[in-house]
Amino acid sequence: MRGALLLGAAVLCASAAGADEFFTLKGHGGPVMGIAVSDSDQIATVSFDNAVGLWSGQAPVWFDGHEAAVNAVVFGPDGTLFSAGDDFSIRVWAPDGTEQAVWHGHKGKIVSLALSANAEWLASASWDGTVGLWSVAGGPPVFLEGHSGPVNDLAFTGDSAQLYSASADGSIRLWNISEQDEAIRVVEHGFGVNEIELNEAGGWLAYGAVDGGTRVLDVQSGEVLADLSLDRRPILAMTQSDVTDQLAVGDGEGYIMVVDTSEWRITRDFRATERGPVWALAFSNDGTNIHAGGLDARVYSWPVETMGEYDPMQTGTPDFLVRADEMPNGERQFMRKCSICHTLTPGSARRAGPSLYDVFGRQAGTVPDYSYSDALNGSTIIWDETTINALFDVGPDLYIPGTKMPVQRITGAQDREDLVTYLRKETAPKETTE
Ligand code: HEC
Repeated sequence: MRGALLLGAAVLCASAAGADEFFTLKGHGGPVMGIAVSDSDQIATVSFDNAVGLWSGQAPVWFDGHEAAVNAVVFGPDGTLFSAGDDFSIRVWAPDGTEQAVWHGHKGKIVSLALSANAEWLASASWDGTVGLWSVAGGPPVFLEGHSGPVNDLAFTGDSAQLYSASADGSIRLWNISEQDEAIRVVEHGFGVNEIELNEAGGWLAYGAVDGGTRVLDVQSGEVLADLSLDRRPILAMTQSDVTDQLAVGDGEGYIMVVDTSEWRITRDFRATERGPVWALAFSNDGTNIHAGGLDARVYSWPVETMGEYDPMQTGTPDFLVRADEMPNGERQFMRKCSICHTLTPGSARRAGPSLYDVFGRQAGTVPDYSYSDALNGSTIIWDETTINALFDVGPDLYIPGTKMPVQRITGAQDREDLVTYLRKETAPKETTE
């Protein structure tokens, strides 16, 4: 197994096994919304592209079944996986990607999952305002009602007898599992709480909120042990490593902050994304790497030791690491307006649009691995400087009526010209591959 892992590592020095090196996981076709790590350091990712990816090294196994964006994933017993998302369902997967069960019952999207330590209960946080409790062995779910807004995150106590929930109603509540009632109101924050992390050995509960509030409470007394709030909002991701005593916090402005939980000191704080938020964070088991997901379809895994010092040039310039104002205009146009849906390399890679590799001189609607709309299927357009320029001068909706490419225009003539020049160069067939 390890041998196979290392094969994919030649270029990016990537192995999923807490390698203490920077690596990326490429394959999703949209933003990465959730990440989980197994006891053996396999990485599970879920995305806006409706898919669950299970990674051993660089080669994912795809679990397809969800009918909308997938927001949450956790590992269960024996390598099983639970995932949930915007289709209101929870799916149970065998390690090989076989769908074992689909659980329905929530009336809103599900944004977080938690497994009890004894592996008997799976809890789900839903925007229908309830917490779902599902017996892993099967049987009807129970829904805990009380929050007056969407439920965003969950954490079981170590004895599996109680469960914390955090909600957009601003509260964190503690529930008794067997009585199915609220034990205590832990916090009334005033702004929606997005994330919680519980560490009972350390006696603390950390939370992150919509207003940027990032606080740590004493679990027994409820007293605030630390206020780590910076002037950035909202907090969107939190994770911890009890091996290295670190808490990591990701926010809507694209920063990752790492905190030493033994003295509540911020040890790292850096801008991890050029644009957009950090939606998902998870540590490797040994705590040396932190895996992060956001708007970019890739997962970036940072060695915590050097995370602020990473030199993008070494591994072929991950797009969001280059500051936008240092990018040539054509590239910036592409990164901002096209890259979320199109690759420039062969293979459409699960993106919403076809690969633009070798597009110049190509007849429209002819990338073999892509399923076009009827408007493009029979089109006689040949893509070149003039036609691509015209496509965004008048807009796809007018240039190719009936296309499924979304309405957008690039009104600046220079911007269109720079974009086309960039595409001409970057889509040209290459001898070498990555
Ligand atoms: C939100 C997703 C999205 C964005 C953003 C987007 N596209 Fe597209 N694009 C598509 C889809 C979907 C299609 C296929 C349309 C169809 O089948 O009707 C497409 C088709 C195309 C085609 C035709 C390709 C072919 O093989 O015929 C070109 C060229 C293209 N896009 C260029 C661009 C450029 C350049 C940008 C940025 C300025 C861009 N697109 C932004 C989704 C997108």
